[in-house]
Amino acid sequence: MQGWLVNEFGGPEVMYWGALPELRPAAGQLLVRVHASGINFAETRMRAGTYSGQELPFVMGMESAGVVEAVGPGVTGFAIGDRVFGRARGSHATHVLFDAVHALPLPATLDFIEGAAIPVGWLTAWHALYTVARARVGERVLIEAIASSVGSAALQIAKWQGCWVAGTASRDDKCRRGIEAGADATYNYKTKNLPTEVMRDTTGHGIDIGLMTIGEETATALFDSMAAEGRIVMYGSTGGRQVCFSLNIGMRNLQLLAMSISSSARFMPESMKSFRDVALPLFAKKHFTAVVDTVLPMRELVKAHGMVDSRTHYGKVVLVND
Ligand SMILES: NC(=O)c1ccc[n+]([C@@H]2O[C@H](COP(=O)([O-])OP(=O)(O)OC[C@H]3O[C@@H](n4cnc5c(N)ncnc54)[C@H](OP(=O)(O)O)[C@@H]3O)[C@@H](O)[C@H]2O)c1
Repeated sequence: MQGWLVNEFGGPEVMYWGALPELRPAAGQLLVRVHASGINFAETRMRAGTYSGQELPFVMGMESAGVVEAVGPGVTGFAIGDRVFGRARGSHATHVLFDAVHALPLPATLDFIEGAAIPVGWLTAWHALYTVARARVGERVLIEAIASSVGSAALQIAKWQGCWVAGTASRDDKCRRGIEAGADATYNYKTKNLPTEVMRDTTGHGIDIGLMTIGEETATALFDSMAAEGRIVMYGSTGGRQVCFSLNIGMRNLQLLAMSISSSARFMPESMKSFRDVALPLFAKKHFTAVVDTVLPMRELVKAHGMVDSRTHYGKVVLVND
């Protein structure tokens, strides 16, 4: 058993491929042979030591798809040989322990790469739009960083919910890909005035649901683009955490809803349940599709982090074991 280990925080050079201690599933756990594992923005922060709560040492990776090799005491619903996918810390490895409550059966119509591209991004977008915002038909949704793995998932979910959907990106090519993927409008927030563009495209109404993930750099533009009674769902701060806004949002009846799928008490009973019951069948029928930008061998983790840093990807970068 081997994996990508980190003993000290720092740049990509602190990650090394090494032997893992023998993994045995405890009560409620599954031992999974990893076939593919997705890359997330948060992992670059974990490696750098700026992700809250991250302790040393640790094995990189937050999600994977693979095959169950051993089942811990008390686990029901899974057996050796099952194809599973889900969130599991330490997934950039040959093997990982899943908490069985986070494991999902991989539909027969999906391969391991697709399975690895879904868990964190789609569950975050699902929790934001289905559980927290409760998006309704006809509402206008704006997705910050639509090319991110969360953003590219949010686009499909919001369209399925019957919304008008716009997104932002820092590059024109990512804006074009957003339109090709089904967005009604996309805006390069580096070159365009977001509120002006949004008000033009919504005939002065503004945005009902804003998915905020950049934070400091774009918060003012997002607040100024919102409709009265709008809901901002905040789940990220890639562009800085110090956000300043006027309390006149009260006069506009705006709601600011912060969330994290790691700590939300509603995530397991509501979002995991509805994702299993409602979203999984839509993946099985290919109504929802995982958005995979690039597939790399597991040994190319440093290159994968470079891709996240360069911000050129649309959707998910996935690592595969030989
Ligand atoms: N709250 C939760 O439970 C939860 C769960 C999962 C993820 N998240 C958050 O969701 C966000 C997206 O995660 P992801 O894994 O989908 O990301 P990702 O695929 O790596 O994409 C991140 C994108 O954010 C945009 N961005 C804007 N400012 C940036 C900056 N200063 N540095 C880097 N990127 C910047 C970039 O797109 P543009 O260049 O086009 O702007 C970048 O490509 C992150 O903030 C992550 O922490 C939150």
